Amino acid sequence: MLPVSAIFCFSLLLLLSLSTNNVNCSVCADISQYDRCSANGACGCFHMVGAHNVGICGFLWTSCSTLVPCDSQTKSCAQDDHICVHHPRCNTQPVCFPALMTDSRICPTMTVNTNTTNTIPNATEITSTTTTTTTTLTTTTKTTTTTIAAPRIWRFTQDMPIALREHVASTLLDGTIMITGGQTNNAGATNRVILYNSSSGTWSNTASMQNARYAHTASVLSNGKVLVTGGVNGDRLLNSAELYDPSTKKWRTIPNLRNARQSHTATVLPNGRVLIAGGQALLSNSMNTAELYDPSADIWTVTGSLKTTRSKHTACLLKNGKVLVVGGSLFTAELYDPAAGLWTSMGVKTSREGHTMSLLPNGQVLVTGGFGIRSAELYDPQTGSWTFVDNMQYARKYHTATVMLDGSVLVTGGYNTTATNTVEFYNPATRKWTTTYERMKHDRYSHTASLLPNGRVLVAGGRSNSYYWSSAELYE
Ligand SMILES: *[C@@H]1O[C@H](CO)[C@@H](O)[C@H](O)[C@H]1NC(C)=O
Ligand SMILES: *[C@@H]1O[C@H](CO)[C@@H](O)[C@H](O)[C@H]1NC(C)=O
Ligand SMILES: *[C@@H]1O[C@H](CO)[C@@H](O)[C@H](O)[C@H]1NC(C)=O
Ligand SMILES: *[C@@H]1O[C@H](CO)[C@@H](O)[C@H](O)[C@H]1NC(C)=O
Repeated sequence: MLPVSAIFCFSLLLLLSLSTNNVNCSVCADISQYDRCSANGACGCFHMVGAHNVGICGFLWTSCSTLVPCDSQTKSCAQDDHICVHHPRCNTQPVCFPALMTDSRICPTMTVNTNTTNTIPNATEITSTTTTTTTTLTTTTKTTTTTIAAPRIWRFTQDMPIALREHVASTLLDGTIMITGGQTNNAGATNRVILYNSSSGTWSNTASMQNARYAHTASVLSNGKVLVTGGVNGDRLLNSAELYDPSTKKWRTIPNLRNARQSHTATVLPNGRVLIAGGQALLSNSMNTAELYDPSADIWTVTGSLKTTRSKHTACLLKNGKVLVVGGSLFTAELYDPAAGLWTSMGVKTSREGHTMSLLPNGQVLVTGGFGIRSAELYDPQTGSWTFVDNMQYARKYHTATVMLDGSVLVTGGYNTTATNTVEFYNPATRKWTTTYERMKHDRYSHTASLLPNGRVLVAGGRSNSYYWSSAELYE
């Protein structure tokens, strides 16, 4: 994402010549077709017809059937609230894309901080000089640029309707946060599912899953549905899998996993399949098996096994399309190559469990903490190497790490000898940590943290030293 002069956006707005609705257009330049251009990962860059390397940031999953080809002669659209863009996944010809699907309420600007300041005083000035490419259209002559306000303080938002730990938070394509399963204070695992609307700041219930579960996975597929797999309910290890459709708000039971498992990982691959890896078979036996879910065929197939059995590990999709798996109290990490269906092993600097793993905007991966561990290390896919960065101030496990809009990483809570409300920021430019003055309102671990479309972070649930929280707070 590069700075683009307001002039371009201005001329784009003239092109759009919208009269009634205010649409914030967000321009992307010098990035490839469909590349990320927004805080919302469901948005991508659509190259515009006739503009070199410049596009408009829009919602990737707008239904193809609604997009008509542009006029083949003039490369324009009959409807003046549509813009002519390339969209090869839908049509070999350029198509008329609805301007509303490029609105910054759907595709909020992603700001990249290129100003490397060493300290983050009270974590207030992370984005001191950011360049934004958002222009507000009120009249055809007025342009205003907006900067996303840097987060500052913690404040409570509405409590969840239930106290939870070890739940899973997923961000749906419309920006809603969905929380599935978890452990409750008295009743063990739950099948409840709740939704947080970041505009209204409120929770609501949606349909419950068939099975109560925790230590499960929940993945948002490219079609917007949510796949939940495995987990445990009391002493029952689950092989069941369920699919939630946000448009109907219903769950459907899909074929069972080939292996029942908990504390495993699920990763959505670029081809749309979901890779399930490792986990615990019985109470203590880690497993090395891996399997793939194909959403179009609704079937599970076996793929290559991990080199080592592991559970309570983390997994993430790298920009090169491979899957990196780290942890499970092992001094190795593994890479899965979807093309070959095979894993390769490599050494890491620290054996971790209860750690976090985050894909940074530059493609590197930051791994933090674990049992009694302050250290953090960085994986560089280009060199295949691991490097220590500065230690965090506090050792923590079962904490969270969230990549913020400016590329910094917010680490919250966790446990060392006690639950903590401390918060630290990782600055990717200096590879150093800053502890913020503002702590969370509650000590918590085994909670969740989700980046909201508006740039705030929602922290929900988790446990204190003695009980589980229903409280939720926003970093804003
Ligand atoms: C970074 O920000 C400081 C303070 O706002 C400013 O003085 C400095 O010129 C900026 N540096 C760059 C490289 O933009
Ligand atoms: C952080 O904020 C607090 C409260 O406003 C203030 O007392 C403190 O001096 C600030 N620290 C820094 C480093 O600005
Ligand atoms: C979220 O809340 C806002 C304001 O109440 C409402 O307009 C919007 O439709 C809600 N979004 C969803 C996805 O329910
Ligand atoms: C973590 O807890 C251990 C005790 O188990 C304590 O000795 C150590 O100081 C703590 N470390 C940090 C960095 O909080």
